[in-house]
Amino acid sequence: MCGIIGYAGSQNPLSVLLAGLRRLEYRGYDSAGIALTRGENDRLFICKNRGKITDLEQKLARSSAPVDARAGIGHTRWATHGEPSEKNAHPHLSQDGRFAIVHNGIIENYADLRQNLSKRGFVFQSDTDSEVIAHLIQACYEGDFKSAVAAAVRNLEGTYGIAVVCSMHPDMIVVARKGSPIVIGVGDGETIIASDASAVIQHTRHAIFLDDGDMACVTCNKVDVASLSNIPVTRELTHIDWDVGRLEKGGYEHFMLKEIHEQPQSLADSIRGRLIIEEGTSKLSGLRMEAADIVRIRRALIAACGTSLYAGIVGKYLFEDIAGIPADAQQAAELRYRNPIIEPETIMLAISQSGETADTLAAVREGIRKGALVLGICNVVGSSIARAAGRGVYLHAGPEIGVASTKAFSSQVAVLAMMALLFGRIRRLSATEGAGIASEIARLPQIAQEILNGEEEIRKTAEKYAGVRDFFFIGRGYLYPAALEGALKLKEISYIHAEGYHAAELKHGPIALLDKDVPVFAAVAASSGRIKTLANMQECRARGAPVIAVATDGDESVAAVADDIIHIPPCPEYLSPIPVVIVEQLFAYYAAKARGCPIDQPRNLAKSVTVE
Ligand code: M6R
Repeated sequence: MCGIIGYAGSQNPLSVLLAGLRRLEYRGYDSAGIALTRGENDRLFICKNRGKITDLEQKLARSSAPVDARAGIGHTRWATHGEPSEKNAHPHLSQDGRFAIVHNGIIENYADLRQNLSKRGFVFQSDTDSEVIAHLIQACYEGDFKSAVAAAVRNLEGTYGIAVVCSMHPDMIVVARKGSPIVIGVGDGETIIASDASAVIQHTRHAIFLDDGDMACVTCNKVDVASLSNIPVTRELTHIDWDVGRLEKGGYEHFMLKEIHEQPQSLADSIRGRLIIEEGTSKLSGLRMEAADIVRIRRALIAACGTSLYAGIVGKYLFEDIAGIPADAQQAAELRYRNPIIEPETIMLAISQSGETADTLAAVREGIRKGALVLGICNVVGSSIARAAGRGVYLHAGPEIGVASTKAFSSQVAVLAMMALLFGRIRRLSATEGAGIASEIARLPQIAQEILNGEEEIRKTAEKYAGVRDFFFIGRGYLYPAALEGALKLKEISYIHAEGYHAAELKHGPIALLDKDVPVFAAVAASSGRIKTLANMQECRARGAPVIAVATDGDESVAAVADDIIHIPPCPEYLSPIPVVIVEQLFAYYAAKARGCPIDQPRNLAKSVTVE
């Protein structure tokens, strides 16, 4: 949830930390802080503040930050324990002031630890769970910095990615992880640590991803990775091939708009090299499954949250329709706590853009525990879910910075369609049937582009309805999850209350809310339930509700039941959530913009939900 950064090297650590924090601000942004080391045994310099990085920068400008700092750590926070405030902002200092820590995650036994430390005379300055780590390190210190961190961390229950500096070792940063990511960028005479590779690639493309239970001792030219029992561990140096330019807004006003516009490219990247049209199949080598394994699959269980869950519901339909595999998509928290039934030959798919969502990660672990073959469908390479699953398919959609997930959804559906094609081709599809599906998937980048070409029409419609308080989104079949996603998108960035419903469900209660002030957004494109949805739209209008339709080009019948129509190009029903959701993304974006909302950082939200 929070962002962590650390630097040891010849550049001014303060500038590097601030640049890194700006890059990480999307992860959490209610307060921020930095700690710098100076000469040996000099007091650590700490500056922290409630608010955004710009507030921290202003405070630093009024302070006497050292110009000759040797190393430093920084943090941008999304509050879990204790309100957003200066005292709760990281870094946290040990009582003797010699250790400063930044932490991402949740320490579950912090209350017990706090009580024990208090009995030993430690006085706490904050309400956080994290501060115990700083005092514990002091309590465990017997002359060796790294051993003190290891000993302290062995007492922690819960999740953590931590970075620690010490006034007695001003050139060193010690990091450790369990459940929260730590990436170490290995540069030329400089080392940068971060909770996220996006903050590292400005400096270097060579990185080490720590595993759970790892810690590392880092200086400007050395990275020693070890277990918590101080046994050296070798972790491979990975090349990160994401482009720095792609991390900038690229001329768009918001990351969300940029990422919506990237979809022709991100879809092409997700599909590239994976479709074999002439054989009517796809090639997804990360699954590491033989035809014999695929034939044996009896059931697919999909675990995910938020937008990824809605992509998962599309996946359920794709698996059943195309591959003939019974499938179920469940909210990951529900799945992990409901003692899921994993029969032999059940595969579990964990879908997550970030690959760090706590509930999805826990569902993966539960699936593995119960013997399911678990496949990760993640965007972030080397993320916790990808690594816990050990096999799966990366989206290759590129970094998604806007809190609202956009291009990840279209790539998730594209990847799920390619998986359904591969499984279906082995289990029941002819080469001709497979080739038809593969050719349709190959058209997705072009379809996305055609939606974007109609952006102006969508903007005007969104602005027309931006002043309303409540909205309904409806759809059937493949467009039912699209309705759920449309409502989620609108509510999270425009703060308009929106509900996604199956079109048939409206008259089982929600229709009572409809009147002239409650518009209904109805997707009717190429769906098998199209005629019935048209009837539902008629019912909405009869209650005075304005109806906005998303319909296929040339569908004349919609005009009689809709006040506004947004057109999408023809495409098969099983892929229609992609164009419909891109329309909904643009609709939500322009409604939020008209309302003056902070689109990339909506209130109360964080990009990556690493707590339950
Ligand atoms: O990184 P993940 O895909 O696992 O994230 C899941 C949800 O937290 C995420 O989709 C969230 O709902 C977004 N804010 C939706 O725009």
